[in-house]
Amino acid sequence: MKALVLAGGKGTRLRPLTHTSAKQLVPVANKPVLFYGLEALRDAGITSVGIIVGDTAHEVREAVGDGAKFGLDITYIPQQAPLGLAHCVLIAEEFLADEPFVMYLGDNFLVGGITSLVDAFRAADHDAQILLTKVAEPQFYGVAELGSDGEIVGLEEKPEHPRSDLAIVGVYIFSPVIHAAVRSITPSARGELEITDAITWLIDKGYRVHSHFVSGYWKDTGRLQDMLECNRIILEQIEPDISGTVDGRSEITGRVVVERGAVVEDSVLRGPIVIGADSKITSSYVGPFTSIGARCEVANTEIEYSIVLDSSSIRGVSRIGHSLIGRNVEVNRAEGMPNTHELMVGDHSKIQVRS
Ligand code: G1P
Repeated sequence: MKALVLAGGKGTRLRPLTHTSAKQLVPVANKPVLFYGLEALRDAGITSVGIIVGDTAHEVREAVGDGAKFGLDITYIPQQAPLGLAHCVLIAEEFLADEPFVMYLGDNFLVGGITSLVDAFRAADHDAQILLTKVAEPQFYGVAELGSDGEIVGLEEKPEHPRSDLAIVGVYIFSPVIHAAVRSITPSARGELEITDAITWLIDKGYRVHSHFVSGYWKDTGRLQDMLECNRIILEQIEPDISGTVDGRSEITGRVVVERGAVVEDSVLRGPIVIGADSKITSSYVGPFTSIGARCEVANTEIEYSIVLDSSSIRGVSRIGHSLIGRNVEVNRAEGMPNTHELMVGDHSKIQVRS
């Protein structure tokens, strides 16, 4: 079995971070979302993985490389424009050949891996397997309607009036018959070849499409609050590890990771949190569910429930929460008169000031 991982797309809801990097590379507990998916595929015994890349191909290639560090053999498949999930299958046909495959959306976050799903598919004689989970706002997802025996009666992509609250999760398993399906469908109203339509085609033609319920936690990490929630979920399970230096004036409570080369002085660290390698935390409070990347500086600051990417500094700011801060960002306290906020922020940034 092979895998097709989708790491294209624009990531408009995570701008401005996605102006300079791929949405699949935003870190959760200091590890890109995409890496969790690649590890899940490897753990399920899959080694041959095709990654669909778009405008951010360069960043994805740089982060993932040839896949050796994951124990994977990676083939990159460029997509000229984001023309839909079924279009990704279309352009990957040569790579996938006549093998069954897992299709994994690179921005989907599934706790607990996919090994049991892959095993279930291998043991059964299905043509496709989809994953479902209950969500509060089904209109933002592909939605499945099930019959009395749990069979799939219908699928709809982002319906205005959803017939159920069962969202289709972005991890699918297909037999090669999907290639005929993606060739047969036409673009949707949003101009994309929808995988939901391809699966509907399979059902209409009498192929066996099986559905499973997600037992663990799942999130599509497209928005800020989703990223922060995934970060919380992973940090809650993190193994405490102090490899850096913490001085005697600092106080540590709960699950705290201080990576190699990091220095913590005169600060309160209340886990679960992770402080990245070579970062420096001075006279600050770092509160629950916070991930600080590598080479950051946090001084005279209070921060919690936030993600800070590599090489950023925050000085003299009290207090930051529910925030996602990109790379090489500086957040400083303004001194002197007049009493103003001084901002220089990128396009599509979002700032909420309390004053
Ligand atoms: C895609 C699929 C949708 C699925 C979702 C899961 O939507 O089209 O059916 O529910 O992924 O993340 P997209 O994120 O491309 O809008």
